[in-house]
Amino acid sequence: MRVLVTGATGRLGRVALPRLRDEGHTVRAVSRRARSDAGVEWVAADLATGEGLAAAVDGVEAVLHLASSPDRRTHQIDVLGTRRLVLAAGHAGVGHLVYVSIVGVDRVPLGYYRHKLAAEQVVAAGPVPWSVLRATQFPEFLDELLRSASRLGPVVGDRAVLAQPVDPGEVAGRLTAMLAAGPTGRIEEFGGPEVLRYDEAVRAWRAARGSRRPLLPVRIPGRLGRELRAGGLTTTATPTGTRTWADHLADTYGGTGRR
Ligand SMILES: NC(=O)c1ccc[n+]([C@@H]2O[C@H](COP(=O)([O-])OP(=O)(O)OC[C@H]3O[C@@H](n4cnc5c(N)ncnc54)[C@H](OP(=O)(O)O)[C@@H]3O)[C@@H](O)[C@H]2O)c1
Repeated sequence: MRVLVTGATGRLGRVALPRLRDEGHTVRAVSRRARSDAGVEWVAADLATGEGLAAAVDGVEAVLHLASSPDRRTHQIDVLGTRRLVLAAGHAGVGHLVYVSIVGVDRVPLGYYRHKLAAEQVVAAGPVPWSVLRATQFPEFLDELLRSASRLGPVVGDRAVLAQPVDPGEVAGRLTAMLAAGPTGRIEEFGGPEVLRYDEAVRAWRAARGSRRPLLPVRIPGRLGRELRAGGLTTTATPTGTRTWADHLADTYGGTGRR
């Protein structure tokens, strides 16, 4: 198939591109900036304005929509930008749009998640046959979160929050399989192989980094805290990924990180 990938320069996009090529697809990749590299046709397009989108979707059979902007102009880019993309794709006769979302967008009260849920609804209401994959957090995201939570010394956090990190390469594999299977009009979930409490994740992280920073427990208040402690970011869906938090720590820091 000819597949357009938005968010192709992102963490997930970077591992999705080679997988799609390995499966024999012809890949066209979107970035806001002009780029070039062998084996991928890069096009410039901006979801915030719609510029370049019509040309980007022209002649493709499927779209893998990974682009997102969690920190700025999220409504403009994730919700309205998804609408612009879906309408352009409908106009171009695209046969399948796969959108990647996050496990818990329908439960966990975070502003970013509300936008992701709204974007899912835009996809489902749009003219292009669709599938949605909600993934859990990537280990790199958890790693960054722990680094920022320990900026002032101890690792601050709610020790009972549950996470289920999933390898982005395995998410890319799942997305590639969904493209091959065709549109389902359904939301699927995909998580990592283990559910970890925050304090367990911190222990393994400290061991892998040879760090002695203590955990400074705080309790996240209100409904947000309740949802996070009740597993709002986790899924019971099977199959799951196979790569563990310890695998990520071993690759990143060289230690085993195993408890
Ligand atoms: N990170 C996680 O733990 C996680 C977990 C589950 C699901 N997800 C979802 O997976 C997807 C990819 O996440 P990621 O961590 O790989 O993202 P990322 O590394 O933050 O990359 C974001 C991508 O969005 C593109 N983008 C941003 N603004 C844009 C705009 N105005 N127009 C066009 N493209 C724009 C960027 O492209 P350029 O800068 O090249 O223009 C970049 O490729 C997201 O939808 C996210 O919600 C993430």
